[in-house]
Amino acid sequence: MAEYEYETHDYDVVVVGAGGAGLRATLGMAEQGLRTACVTKVFPTRSHTVAAQGGIAASLSNMGPDNWQWHMYDTVKGGDWLGDTDAMEYLAREAPKAVYELEHYGVPFSRTEEGKIYQRPFGGHTTEFGEGPPVQRTCAAADRTGHAILHTLYGQSLKQKAEFYIEYFAIDLVISDDGACTGVVCWKLDDGTMHVFNAKMVVLATGGYGRAFFSATSAHTCTGDGGGMVARAGLPLQDMEFVQFHPTGIYGAGCLITEGARGEGGYLTNSEGERFMERYAPQYKDLAPRDYVSRSMTMEIREGRGVGKDGDHIHLNLSHLPAEALHLRLPGISESARIFAGVDVTKEPIPVLPTVHYNMGGIPTNHWGEALNPTADDPNAIVPGLMAVGEAGCASVHGANRLGSNSLIDLVVFGRAAAIRAGEVIDRDSAAPDADAAQIDKIFDRFDGIRHAKGGTPTAELRTEMQKTMQADAAVFRTSKTLAEGIDKMHDIAAKLDDLHVTDRSLVWNTDLMETLELTNLMPNALATIYGAEARHESRGAHAHEDYEERDDENWRVHTIARVHGNDVELSYRPIIEDPLTTEKQGGIPLNKIAPKARTF
Ligand code: FUM
Repeated sequence: MAEYEYETHDYDVVVVGAGGAGLRATLGMAEQGLRTACVTKVFPTRSHTVAAQGGIAASLSNMGPDNWQWHMYDTVKGGDWLGDTDAMEYLAREAPKAVYELEHYGVPFSRTEEGKIYQRPFGGHTTEFGEGPPVQRTCAAADRTGHAILHTLYGQSLKQKAEFYIEYFAIDLVISDDGACTGVVCWKLDDGTMHVFNAKMVVLATGGYGRAFFSATSAHTCTGDGGGMVARAGLPLQDMEFVQFHPTGIYGAGCLITEGARGEGGYLTNSEGERFMERYAPQYKDLAPRDYVSRSMTMEIREGRGVGKDGDHIHLNLSHLPAEALHLRLPGISESARIFAGVDVTKEPIPVLPTVHYNMGGIPTNHWGEALNPTADDPNAIVPGLMAVGEAGCASVHGANRLGSNSLIDLVVFGRAAAIRAGEVIDRDSAAPDADAAQIDKIFDRFDGIRHAKGGTPTAELRTEMQKTMQADAAVFRTSKTLAEGIDKMHDIAAKLDDLHVTDRSLVWNTDLMETLELTNLMPNALATIYGAEARHESRGAHAHEDYEERDDENWRVHTIARVHGNDVELSYRPIIEDPLTTEKQGGIPLNKIAPKARTF
């Protein structure tokens, strides 16, 4: 048995992750006087939210008529009728309040002439329940909105005396015999010490797992650590087959060029100079949702109308926009295009390609962020002591496809919701639970086994194999053949986790060990993704299955529940929540507006 000394910390709440959702949850908990710790593997303002560019959706009506019911409708339709209706209502209804809170906390939003928060159009956001023109709903701080939000929330959390444990890597959750989460075990990266955090509530805000793929807009830190820990604890992941490709990753580099570029008037062209989105989405054109635009671009390339010497990408044109507008509204992407594509956006188009950007799936939760462990008797059974928010969670507010700018609003609305709920359920007078000693030993045994792994496969080699397989076989378009091949390959790749070779055995700043632990987190996320995709015999949102081209509401309007056992995945299904939180009489959305129908733009 591995012997590691550790320090114990007792809190009401431990939040794991310091991106937008983690910080908003941390702030909300601390504001209520809950003893709150936030543990994070990177410095908070380096969390991946810092890379969010275009903005945060809320029906403020600063630039024209809008309301939360239209926002909710767009979210339901954008998600191709797979989302949970209660969560979608909660998101759209609470969004304006959450954005005004951010404004009052100090987020430096861009402004209109009258001094109101500036809002831009984004794909899939419309008026009149999808009958009217695009709406300007996305509140922006130029094209650095995530950066502005993250810095503000970190400052506010410090002001509320939340305690930060920075550069602590969460190894595993501690789960009691009766199935409650009682804390998390962490490794402090800069001095190699070990830490057991006991808490009445653990909130996973660990972000997505974009790095399971070869080309992603996600930071290298997006390794699905929350999903990995949950899977090892025997808990499920939900709807993992829905992986969003952002239409405009820079060709080759994969860096994000915000959808705000098209919101500000940019457009896509093929090798014939044609604005092809007019053919695919006659009403909303370049402002159709991302799954639509990514598929259209892929079809243009497949049909021989891609640009470049290999005809394998598409052009994003901004040079017709006034240089001052580019400077004022899109300074960040102008710089990214120059650095990563060698392009002056005032003169030339940017070469772009659909690139993995977001995971709609994650740890299943209700709309308060409470983690679920569905059973046949109770599809909404709660895991005591555990929450998940942001991209790590699946509320499911984005269904099968997320609308651009609904991510930042998801982070703050559900980070805030988790804090509200925790304030209700946590008994402030009781002591933090004690960690089960046998559990702690088991966690250190696994850690030690990885630290001393002496197999024949270097971590980087196995990671690349996984990333290339996921990129090729769980792509924008999928077929029964590619998915079955993908399952076979991933099954073998995951088995090689037992043959890993870690070179550095030290505990201080051991990036070899950290990347290996991250790989053990990426793997269950990747497995759940490809197994879920192979089993889903329909096309819906981001899951475009060429052998099953139609959406099948009769059989497939259900959430996929994936339990990962080693390199195998057990799938079951859970009904979606169809009822909104409020009735039409209470001012809620009329049910006939959100009933499933053909999804055209
Ligand atoms: O295009 C973007 O600015 C990305 C926004 C988002 O994913 O919500």
